[in-house]
Parts: sequence; structure tokens; C-alpha cells
Amino acid sequence: MASSLPGGTWILGDLSVSRFGYGAMQLAGPGVMGPPADRDAALAVLREVRDLGITHIDTAGAYGPRFTNRLIREALHPYPEALHIVTKVGADRDPQGGWPPARKPEDLRRAVHENLEDLGLDALDLVNLRLGDAEGPRPESVAEALGTLVELQQQGLIRQLGVSNATAEQVAEARAIAPIVCVQNMYNLAYRQDDKLIDELAEQGIAYVPFFPLGGFSPLQSSALSAVAARLNATPLSVALAWLLHRSPNILLIPGTSSTAHLRENVAGAGLRLSPEDLAELDKIGRQ
Ligand SMILES: NC(=O)c1ccc[n+]([C@@H]2O[C@H](COP(=O)([O-])OP(=O)(O)OC[C@H]3O[C@@H](n4cnc5c(N)ncnc54)[C@H](OP(=O)(O)O)[C@@H]3O)[C@@H](O)[C@H]2O)c1
Repeated sequence: MASSLPGGTWILGDLSVSRFGYGAMQLAGPGVMGPPADRDAALAVLREVRDLGITHIDTAGAYGPRFTNRLIREALHPYPEALHIVTKVGADRDPQGGWPPARKPEDLRRAVHENLEDLGLDALDLVNLRLGDAEGPRPESVAEALGTLVELQQQGLIRQLGVSNATAEQVAEARAIAPIVCVQNMYNLAYRQDDKLIDELAEQGIAYVPFFPLGGFSPLQSSALSAVAARLNATPLSVALAWLLHRSPNILLIPGTSSTAHLRENVAGAGLRLSPEDLAELDKIGRQ
């Protein structure tokens, strides 16, 4: 289905999604623990996501934990046919709010079944294997963990697979084991470790889904970004989203927000047209 949202659509394996998606992490309570402070506002954000025609929601059982998936179900089940919910497994939460790895076969099986139960689904559209830890990617084999997800896929519980928080080597290892439709890593205007990987994935028709597209818990700040935004009469965060859509056709956006007003602002802002001069100026930010 065509999307009137900025960026149009992308195909993740057999799933058509709007390139403008939504990241649900901000809906949980402080520190991504517990329920949201304002439950009705969180439900309203999710319904606005649907009403704007966004067909890609990114979530994880670890958000809350489990609260965010249950909110998604409450707000949107039965889901519109076009809507695809992408989840992650591979990290748990500890009582201090940490994100310890949980990638043993039994952890992954439990996580997939919890996601199915909490989201009210018979099969998960896309599961990302979340690697590394809260500090970033770590070099380690993905074979055992991905093998477990492939088994669950063969049982019909998962449609498509992706990896997250992965090194380029892990992406290559994963692709030799199973078809991988997306890579979800940290990337934004100011943090550009994956430039080369993005271009390689674009050539292979694999989506790259930057997490922290707006800078994450501390929104992006840069005088060069502010200067371009002022010239365009736009906000810096709008320019940051529009830049990602311009950066490469395989980039999908999943900006997070707990505010319906910010969600609308982000959709409108991502559609900004950037000139070659604007792009050249913005390009320098992450290369300094
Ligand atoms: N794979 C992984 O390991 C991983 C890690 C982190 C995140 N993720 C995924 O990536 C998604 C995006 O990351 P994120 O939500 O952490 O960070 P983000 O999208 O970079 O930024 C979210 C922050 O920006 C603020 N914001 C959003 N729109 C705004 C606007 N128009 N004006 C002012 N502030 C605005 C939000 O606050 P308000 O709520 O006040 O709008 C929130 O604090 C997550 O939701 C999650 O699904 C994945």
C-alpha cells in the first residue's frame, strides 16, 4: 500500500512498511521501567500513530518490561492489516533498570512467547536479535542465538528476522545463517559509525533502522544543525529526521515520543526538503 507519509514505503522481506515508523520505548515509565505516568496519553499516542497511517511500530518485551507491549495491544488490537509490529529479543531488565543480555536458547524462546502473549499475536512479523549490551555492540558469534530464532521461525512464530546493536562482522555472520531484512543500530546526524554499513546494506536491499535518530535520551544539539534549521524555519529535530530520509533510501525512521504533539511535529518535519547545500553543511556535523 502506498504511504503518503514522508519517505514513502519500504519492503522488509514480505512486509510493506511506511519508512516513517514509530519507536515505542518512550511510552514506558521513567528509565523505561514500569507503566507510563499518563496511561491515557500513551494510548492516545499509539492511536495517533495508527491514524496517521504509520505501519511500522518498533517495540521490545524489555520496555517496561512487558508494559509497552501490553499498551500496544490495548490501544490497537485487533491490529489494522497493514500495521507491522517489530520487536526485539536478547536483553532482559534487572531490578536496577539495567539491560543484561539474555540470549541463551531458553531466554529467547521465553521472550518470543511473552511477546506473542503480550501483543496478542499468533506470529511476530519481525524479530530483531539484540546483540551486545547497553554500551554498544560486542564482538561475539551470533550463531547459537540466531539459530534458536530460526527454529522459532520454522515453527511459524516469527515471519522475518533482523539484528540489532550489531557489528558489520555480526551482520555478515547472521546473513550467512538466515535471510536478514533489517539492521537496527545506533545512528544519527552526529553519530555515524555505520556509514559504510548503511551503504553496503542499501546495495543488498536490506533496511537500516537507526535507533536514537533524535539523539535518544539527550536530544541532538549542534550549532551547525541549529543554523540549517533556522534558515529553513524548522526545528533542529525536524532537520535531523529529514536528513536521515535523505541519507539513504534503505533508512527507516523509528523516532520515539510520548507526546502526540511531538509525533505530529516529527511526521511533518521529516518531510522537509533539504538542498545539496543544506546536506553538505549537515554532513560535516558527524564527521568532525
Ligand atoms: N535496538 C536497541 O538497542 C534500541 C535502543 C534504543 C532505542 N531503540 C528503539 O529506537 C526508538 C527511538 O529511540 P529513542 O526513542 O530512545 O530516541 P529518539 O527517537 O532519538 O529520541 C526520543 C526523545 O526525543 C524526544 N522527542 C521526540 N520528538 C520530539 C519533538 N518533536 N520535540 C522535542 N522532543 C522530541 C522524546 O521526548 P518526548 O517523549 O517528550 O517527545 C524523547 O526524549 C525507541 O523508541 C526504540 O523503539 C532501540
